[in-house]
Amino acid sequence: MGNGSEKFLLEVNLALTKQVLVSLSAHALHTKCKLSKFPLHCRTMADKAKMLDNAIESAIRNAVVDYKVNACPMAVRLAWHSSGTFDKKDGSGGSSGATMRFEPESTDDANAGLNIMRDLLIPVKKQFPFLSIADIWTRAGAFAVRFSGGPSVPFEYGRTDARDGRNAPPNGRLPDAAQGAQHLRDIFYRMGFNDREIVCLSGAHTLGRCHKSRSGFDGPWTANPLKFDNSYFKNLMGLDWKPRKWDGPLQYEDPSGKYMMLPSDMALKTDESFRVFAQRYADDEQLFFKDFAAVSCCVMSCVCRASSLTAGCCECFWCAPLCA
Ligand code: HEM
Repeated sequence: MGNGSEKFLLEVNLALTKQVLVSLSAHALHTKCKLSKFPLHCRTMADKAKMLDNAIESAIRNAVVDYKVNACPMAVRLAWHSSGTFDKKDGSGGSSGATMRFEPESTDDANAGLNIMRDLLIPVKKQFPFLSIADIWTRAGAFAVRFSGGPSVPFEYGRTDARDGRNAPPNGRLPDAAQGAQHLRDIFYRMGFNDREIVCLSGAHTLGRCHKSRSGFDGPWTANPLKFDNSYFKNLMGLDWKPRKWDGPLQYEDPSGKYMMLPSDMALKTDESFRVFAQRYADDEQLFFKDFAAVSCCVMSCVCRASSLTAGCCECFWCAPLCA
Protein backbone atom coordinates (compact mmCIF):
# COMPACT_ATOMS: atom_id res chain seq x y z
CA MET A 1 0.00 0.00 0.00
CA GLY A 2 1.47 3.38 -0.98
CA ASN A 3 1.95 6.34 1.40
CA GLY A 4 -0.99 8.11 -0.25
CA SER A 5 -3.33 5.22 0.54
CA GLU A 6 -2.11 4.99 4.15
CA LYS A 7 -2.64 8.71 4.63
CA PHE A 8 -6.08 8.39 3.12
CA LEU A 9 -7.00 5.47 5.42
CA LEU A 10 -5.86 7.54 8.40
CA GLU A 11 -8.07 10.41 7.25
CA VAL A 12 -10.98 8.03 6.72
CA ASN A 13 -10.49 6.60 10.22
CA LEU A 14 -10.47 10.08 11.72
CA ALA A 15 -13.62 10.96 9.82
CA LEU A 16 -15.26 7.71 10.96
CA THR A 17 -14.34 8.41 14.60
CA LYS A 18 -15.91 11.85 14.29
CA GLN A 19 -19.04 10.31 12.77
CA VAL A 20 -19.28 7.77 15.62
CA LEU A 21 -19.13 10.61 18.15
CA VAL A 22 -21.86 12.44 16.27
CA SER A 23 -23.91 9.22 16.13
CA LEU A 24 -23.40 8.61 19.85
CA SER A 25 -24.68 12.05 20.75
CA ALA A 26 -27.61 11.59 18.37
CA HIS A 27 -28.25 8.28 20.12
CA ALA A 28 -28.20 9.89 23.55
CA LEU A 29 -31.04 12.11 22.39
CA HIS A 30 -32.85 9.27 20.67
CA THR A 31 -33.99 7.41 23.76
CA LYS A 32 -36.30 5.03 21.91
CA CYS A 33 -33.61 3.55 19.64
CA LYS A 34 -34.07 -0.01 20.90
CA LEU A 35 -37.76 0.18 20.19
CA SER A 36 -37.43 1.92 16.88
CA LYS A 37 -37.58 -0.12 13.68
CA PHE A 38 -35.25 2.40 12.06
CA PRO A 39 -32.09 3.21 13.99
CA LEU A 40 -31.91 6.98 13.80
CA HIS A 41 -28.25 7.28 12.82
CA CYS A 42 -28.50 4.73 9.95
CA ARG A 43 -31.62 6.31 8.59
CA THR A 44 -29.96 9.67 8.87
CA MET A 45 -26.96 8.54 6.80
CA ALA A 46 -29.12 7.22 3.99
CA ASP A 47 -31.44 10.24 4.11
CA LYS A 48 -28.51 12.65 4.09
CA ALA A 49 -26.98 10.87 1.09
CA LYS A 50 -30.29 10.97 -0.74
CA MET A 51 -30.53 14.72 -0.18
CA LEU A 52 -26.99 15.20 -1.45
CA ASP A 53 -27.46 12.90 -4.44
CA ASN A 54 -26.84 15.67 -7.00
CA ALA A 55 -23.58 16.71 -5.35
CA ILE A 56 -22.54 13.05 -5.07
CA GLU A 57 -23.32 12.64 -8.77
CA SER A 58 -20.95 15.51 -9.65
CA ALA A 59 -18.20 14.10 -7.47
CA ILE A 60 -18.60 10.68 -9.08
CA ARG A 61 -18.66 12.21 -12.56
CA ASN A 62 -15.41 14.06 -11.81
CA ALA A 63 -13.81 10.87 -10.55
CA VAL A 64 -14.98 8.61 -13.37
CA VAL A 65 -14.91 10.82 -16.45
CA ASP A 66 -12.24 13.40 -17.12
CA TYR A 67 -10.68 14.88 -20.21
CA LYS A 68 -8.50 11.86 -20.88
CA VAL A 69 -10.18 8.95 -19.14
CA ASN A 70 -13.70 7.57 -19.33
CA ALA A 71 -13.85 4.86 -16.72
CA CYS A 72 -17.62 4.27 -16.93
CA PRO A 73 -17.27 0.63 -18.08
CA MET A 74 -14.97 -0.14 -15.19
CA ALA A 75 -17.31 1.61 -12.74
CA VAL A 76 -20.16 -0.62 -13.92
CA ARG A 77 -17.94 -3.68 -13.54
CA LEU A 78 -16.82 -2.71 -10.03
CA ALA A 79 -20.44 -2.26 -8.89
CA TRP A 80 -21.35 -5.61 -10.40
CA HIS A 81 -18.38 -7.52 -8.98
CA SER A 82 -18.92 -6.07 -5.52
CA SER A 83 -22.54 -7.27 -5.67
CA GLY A 84 -22.33 -10.46 -7.71
CA THR A 85 -20.86 -12.57 -4.90
CA PHE A 86 -24.24 -12.74 -3.17
CA ASP A 87 -25.64 -16.09 -2.05
CA LYS A 88 -29.33 -15.94 -1.30
CA LYS A 89 -29.12 -19.16 0.75
CA ASP A 90 -27.26 -17.59 3.63
CA GLY A 91 -27.22 -13.90 2.70
CA SER A 92 -23.42 -13.89 2.42
CA GLY A 93 -21.50 -11.77 -0.11
CA GLY A 94 -23.20 -8.93 -1.93
CA SER A 95 -22.66 -5.21 -2.16
CA SER A 96 -22.90 -4.28 1.50
CA GLY A 97 -19.55 -4.44 3.25
CA ALA A 98 -17.37 -3.40 0.30
CA THR A 99 -15.34 -6.48 1.17
CA MET A 100 -13.36 -6.27 -2.08
CA ARG A 101 -11.00 -4.01 -0.11
CA PHE A 102 -9.81 -7.13 1.71
CA GLU A 103 -8.33 -10.50 0.86
CA PRO A 104 -9.30 -12.93 -0.52
CA GLU A 105 -11.70 -10.85 -2.64
CA SER A 106 -9.16 -8.15 -3.50
CA THR A 107 -6.84 -10.77 -5.03
CA ASP A 108 -9.51 -12.82 -6.81
CA ASP A 109 -8.35 -13.14 -10.44
CA ALA A 110 -11.88 -12.17 -11.50
CA ASN A 111 -11.31 -8.74 -9.93
CA ALA A 112 -8.00 -8.06 -11.70
CA GLY A 113 -7.72 -4.37 -12.60
CA LEU A 114 -10.62 -3.21 -10.42
CA ASN A 115 -8.17 -1.68 -7.94
CA ILE A 116 -7.82 1.13 -10.53
CA MET A 117 -11.50 1.95 -10.18
CA ARG A 118 -11.48 1.61 -6.41
CA ASP A 119 -8.62 4.14 -6.29
CA LEU A 120 -10.37 6.52 -8.71
CA LEU A 121 -13.32 6.70 -6.30
CA ILE A 122 -11.23 7.57 -3.22
CA PRO A 123 -11.78 11.34 -3.74
CA VAL A 124 -15.54 10.77 -3.46
CA LYS A 125 -15.05 9.18 -0.03
CA LYS A 126 -12.87 12.14 0.94
CA GLN A 127 -15.55 14.59 -0.14
CA PHE A 128 -18.39 12.68 1.54
CA PRO A 129 -16.83 10.85 4.50
CA PHE A 130 -20.22 9.79 5.88
CA LEU A 131 -20.94 7.75 2.72
CA SER A 132 -20.02 4.08 2.91
CA ILE A 133 -17.53 2.86 0.34
CA ALA A 134 -20.10 0.17 -0.55
CA ASP A 135 -22.60 2.92 -1.42
CA ILE A 136 -19.97 4.85 -3.41
CA TRP A 137 -19.00 1.83 -5.54
CA THR A 138 -22.59 0.92 -6.33
CA ARG A 139 -23.77 4.50 -6.82
CA ALA A 140 -20.88 5.04 -9.24
CA GLY A 141 -21.92 1.97 -11.23
CA ALA A 142 -25.53 3.12 -11.43
CA PHE A 143 -24.52 6.64 -12.51
CA ALA A 144 -22.00 5.28 -15.04
CA VAL A 145 -24.80 3.52 -16.91
CA ARG A 146 -26.61 6.85 -17.28
CA PHE A 147 -23.42 8.84 -18.03
CA SER A 148 -22.95 6.42 -20.96
CA GLY A 149 -26.42 7.06 -22.37
CA GLY A 150 -28.20 4.17 -20.66
CA PRO A 151 -31.24 4.15 -18.40
CA SER A 152 -31.45 5.70 -14.97
CA VAL A 153 -30.94 2.87 -12.49
CA PRO A 154 -33.04 3.31 -9.32
CA PHE A 155 -30.79 3.44 -6.27
CA GLU A 156 -31.12 3.25 -2.48
CA TYR A 157 -28.33 4.38 -0.15
CA GLY A 158 -27.72 2.56 3.11
CA ARG A 159 -24.98 -0.02 2.61
CA THR A 160 -22.35 -0.25 5.29
CA ASP A 161 -18.64 -1.07 5.25
CA ALA A 162 -17.14 -4.14 6.87
CA ARG A 163 -14.25 -3.44 9.20
CA ASP A 164 -12.17 -6.35 7.90
CA GLY A 165 -12.30 -9.28 5.52
CA ARG A 166 -13.66 -11.83 7.99
CA ASN A 167 -16.99 -11.97 6.17
CA ALA A 168 -15.57 -11.51 2.69
CA PRO A 169 -17.01 -14.17 0.36
CA PRO A 170 -14.64 -16.90 -0.87
CA ASN A 171 -13.18 -16.53 -4.36
CA GLY A 172 -14.89 -18.31 -7.22
CA ARG A 173 -18.38 -16.85 -6.82
CA LEU A 174 -18.19 -14.65 -9.93
CA PRO A 175 -18.87 -16.10 -13.39
CA ASP A 176 -16.10 -17.72 -15.40
CA ALA A 177 -16.10 -16.42 -18.99
CA ALA A 178 -14.66 -19.67 -20.33
CA GLN A 179 -17.80 -21.61 -19.36
CA GLY A 180 -21.28 -22.00 -20.78
CA ALA A 181 -25.00 -21.93 -20.00
CA GLN A 182 -25.06 -24.37 -17.06
CA HIS A 183 -22.35 -22.42 -15.27
CA LEU A 184 -24.17 -19.10 -15.81
CA ARG A 185 -27.30 -20.64 -14.32
CA ASP A 186 -25.37 -22.03 -11.34
CA ILE A 187 -23.90 -18.60 -10.60
CA PHE A 188 -26.94 -16.39 -11.21
CA TYR A 189 -29.56 -18.74 -9.74
CA ARG A 190 -27.45 -18.70 -6.55
CA MET A 191 -28.13 -14.94 -6.39
CA GLY A 192 -31.82 -15.47 -7.11
CA PHE A 193 -31.96 -14.45 -10.79
CA ASN A 194 -33.72 -16.19 -13.69
CA ASP A 195 -32.82 -16.74 -17.35
CA ARG A 196 -34.25 -13.44 -18.57
CA GLU A 197 -32.30 -11.56 -15.89
CA ILE A 198 -29.07 -13.40 -16.74
CA VAL A 199 -29.38 -12.36 -20.39
CA CYS A 200 -30.37 -8.81 -19.52
CA LEU A 201 -27.46 -8.26 -17.12
CA SER A 202 -24.99 -9.67 -19.63
CA GLY A 203 -26.05 -6.80 -21.91
CA ALA A 204 -23.71 -4.61 -19.81
CA HIS A 205 -21.00 -5.95 -22.14
CA THR A 206 -22.19 -3.30 -24.55
CA LEU A 207 -19.76 -1.20 -22.49
CA GLY A 208 -16.01 -1.63 -22.29
CA ARG A 209 -13.70 -4.31 -23.50
CA CYS A 210 -11.56 -7.26 -22.46
CA HIS A 211 -7.94 -6.61 -21.53
CA LYS A 212 -5.34 -9.30 -22.15
CA SER A 213 -3.40 -8.20 -19.09
CA ARG A 214 -6.45 -8.59 -16.80
CA SER A 215 -8.63 -11.48 -17.94
CA GLY A 216 -6.50 -12.95 -20.74
CA PHE A 217 -9.30 -12.13 -23.23
CA ASP A 218 -8.94 -9.33 -25.71
CA GLY A 219 -11.10 -6.77 -27.51
CA PRO A 220 -14.45 -4.92 -27.40
CA TRP A 221 -17.93 -6.31 -27.94
CA THR A 222 -19.23 -3.29 -29.86
CA ALA A 223 -18.18 -0.38 -32.08
CA ASN A 224 -18.59 2.20 -29.32
CA PRO A 225 -17.58 0.71 -25.96
CA LEU A 226 -18.39 3.98 -24.17
CA LYS A 227 -22.03 4.05 -25.27
CA PHE A 228 -24.68 2.11 -23.42
CA ASP A 229 -27.14 0.73 -25.99
CA ASN A 230 -28.30 -2.67 -27.26
CA SER A 231 -25.42 -3.13 -29.75
CA TYR A 232 -24.11 -6.06 -27.73
CA PHE A 233 -27.29 -8.02 -28.48
CA LYS A 234 -27.42 -6.80 -32.08
CA ASN A 235 -23.86 -7.98 -32.65
CA LEU A 236 -24.32 -11.24 -30.77
CA MET A 237 -27.47 -12.22 -32.66
CA GLY A 238 -26.78 -10.56 -36.01
CA LEU A 239 -23.15 -11.42 -36.74
CA ASP A 240 -21.51 -14.70 -37.54
CA TRP A 241 -19.05 -15.72 -34.81
CA LYS A 242 -16.03 -18.00 -35.28
CA PRO A 243 -13.33 -19.03 -32.78
CA ARG A 244 -10.43 -16.59 -33.02
CA LYS A 245 -7.14 -18.13 -34.12
CA TRP A 246 -4.63 -16.81 -31.65
CA ASP A 247 -2.44 -17.87 -28.73
CA GLY A 248 -4.97 -16.79 -26.08
CA PRO A 249 -7.98 -18.54 -24.51
CA LEU A 250 -10.98 -19.53 -26.65
CA GLN A 251 -12.94 -16.44 -27.68
CA TYR A 252 -14.97 -15.63 -30.76
CA GLU A 253 -14.59 -12.98 -33.47
CA ASP A 254 -16.91 -11.55 -36.12
CA PRO A 255 -15.96 -11.67 -39.86
CA SER A 256 -14.38 -8.19 -39.65
CA GLY A 257 -12.20 -9.28 -36.71
CA LYS A 258 -13.08 -6.06 -34.87
CA TYR A 259 -15.41 -7.41 -32.20
CA MET A 260 -15.26 -10.29 -29.77
CA MET A 261 -17.54 -12.55 -27.75
CA LEU A 262 -16.61 -14.65 -24.73
CA PRO A 263 -17.67 -18.32 -24.55
CA SER A 264 -20.16 -17.21 -21.82
CA ASP A 265 -21.57 -14.56 -24.22
CA MET A 266 -22.00 -17.19 -26.93
CA ALA A 267 -24.05 -19.31 -24.50
CA LEU A 268 -26.74 -16.59 -24.69
CA LYS A 269 -27.05 -17.32 -28.41
CA THR A 270 -26.75 -21.11 -28.37
CA ASP A 271 -28.94 -21.92 -25.34
CA GLU A 272 -32.59 -22.21 -26.37
CA SER A 273 -34.03 -20.37 -23.39
CA PHE A 274 -31.41 -17.59 -23.30
CA ARG A 275 -31.56 -16.86 -27.05
CA VAL A 276 -35.24 -15.87 -26.94
CA PHE A 277 -34.42 -13.01 -24.57
CA ALA A 278 -31.19 -12.07 -26.39
CA GLN A 279 -33.20 -11.70 -29.63
CA ARG A 280 -35.87 -9.65 -27.86
CA TYR A 281 -33.26 -7.24 -26.52
CA ALA A 282 -31.60 -7.04 -29.95
CA ASP A 283 -34.97 -6.04 -31.44
CA ASP A 284 -36.13 -3.68 -28.72
CA GLU A 285 -33.65 -1.34 -27.04
CA GLN A 286 -36.32 0.26 -24.84
CA LEU A 287 -37.23 -3.13 -23.40
CA PHE A 288 -33.55 -3.79 -22.68
CA PHE A 289 -33.19 -0.40 -20.93
CA LYS A 290 -36.31 -0.93 -18.84
CA ASP A 291 -35.29 -4.44 -17.76
CA PHE A 292 -31.66 -3.48 -17.20
CA ALA A 293 -32.56 -0.61 -14.88
CA ALA A 294 -34.76 -2.87 -12.78
CA VAL A 295 -32.42 -5.87 -12.64
CA SER A 296 -29.22 -3.98 -11.99
CA CYS A 297 -30.92 -2.05 -9.18
CA CYS A 298 -31.80 -5.41 -7.73
CA VAL A 299 -28.28 -6.83 -8.10
CA MET A 300 -26.88 -3.85 -6.26
CA SER A 301 -29.49 -3.36 -3.58
CA CYS A 302 -31.79 -6.23 -2.83
CA VAL A 303 -28.67 -8.11 -1.90
CA CYS A 304 -27.68 -5.31 0.40
CA ARG A 305 -28.32 -5.53 4.10
CA ALA A 306 -29.71 -2.02 3.86
CA SER A 307 -32.95 -3.74 3.01
CA SER A 308 -32.96 -5.10 6.53
CA LEU A 309 -33.19 -1.51 7.78
CA THR A 310 -36.90 -2.03 7.43
CA ALA A 311 -36.70 -5.06 9.68
CA GLY A 312 -34.60 -3.55 12.44
CA CYS A 313 -30.94 -2.96 13.23
CA CYS A 314 -28.83 -3.48 10.13
CA GLU A 315 -25.85 -4.44 12.32
CA CYS A 316 -23.67 -1.94 10.54
CA PHE A 317 -20.63 -0.24 12.01
CA TRP A 318 -22.93 2.46 13.37
CA CYS A 319 -25.81 0.35 14.59
CA ALA A 320 -24.17 -2.72 16.03
CA PRO A 321 -22.56 -1.13 19.11
CA LEU A 322 -25.54 1.16 19.70
CA CYS A 323 -28.43 -1.21 19.19
CA ALA A 324 -26.90 -4.31 20.82
C1 HEM B 1 -22.54 -13.31 -17.46
C2 HEM B 1 -21.38 -13.55 -16.91
C3 HEM B 1 -20.22 -12.63 -17.07
C4 HEM B 1 -18.96 -12.97 -17.40
C5 HEM B 1 -18.46 -14.38 -17.61
C6 HEM B 1 -18.20 -11.76 -17.51
C7 HEM B 1 -16.86 -11.69 -17.83
C8 HEM B 1 -16.17 -10.55 -18.14
C9 HEM B 1 -14.81 -10.48 -18.60
C10 HEM B 1 -13.88 -11.68 -18.77
C11 HEM B 1 -14.51 -9.19 -18.81
C12 HEM B 1 -13.17 -8.62 -19.30
C13 HEM B 1 -12.38 -8.03 -18.14
C14 HEM B 1 -11.08 -7.42 -18.59
O1 HEM B 1 -10.33 -8.09 -19.29
O2 HEM B 1 -10.83 -6.26 -18.23
C15 HEM B 1 -15.67 -8.42 -18.53
C16 HEM B 1 -15.76 -7.06 -18.66
C17 HEM B 1 -16.88 -6.34 -18.33
N1 HEM B 1 -18.01 -6.82 -17.69
FE1 HEM B 1 -18.54 -8.75 -17.52
N2 HEM B 1 -19.00 -10.70 -17.23
C18 HEM B 1 -20.25 -11.17 -16.94
C19 HEM B 1 -21.34 -10.44 -16.56
C20 HEM B 1 -21.34 -9.07 -16.41
C21 HEM B 1 -22.40 -8.31 -15.79
C22 HEM B 1 -23.66 -8.92 -15.17
C23 HEM B 1 -22.02 -7.00 -15.85
C24 HEM B 1 -22.75 -5.78 -15.35
C25 HEM B 1 -24.03 -5.73 -15.03
C26 HEM B 1 -20.75 -6.94 -16.53
C27 HEM B 1 -20.07 -5.79 -16.83
C28 HEM B 1 -18.84 -5.76 -17.47
C29 HEM B 1 -18.24 -4.54 -18.01
C30 HEM B 1 -18.87 -3.16 -18.03
C31 HEM B 1 -16.99 -4.92 -18.54
C32 HEM B 1 -15.97 -4.01 -19.23
C33 HEM B 1 -14.94 -3.53 -18.22
C34 HEM B 1 -13.87 -2.64 -18.80
O3 HEM B 1 -13.93 -2.24 -19.96
O4 HEM B 1 -12.92 -2.36 -18.05
N3 HEM B 1 -20.35 -8.22 -16.81
N4 HEM B 1 -16.68 -9.28 -18.10
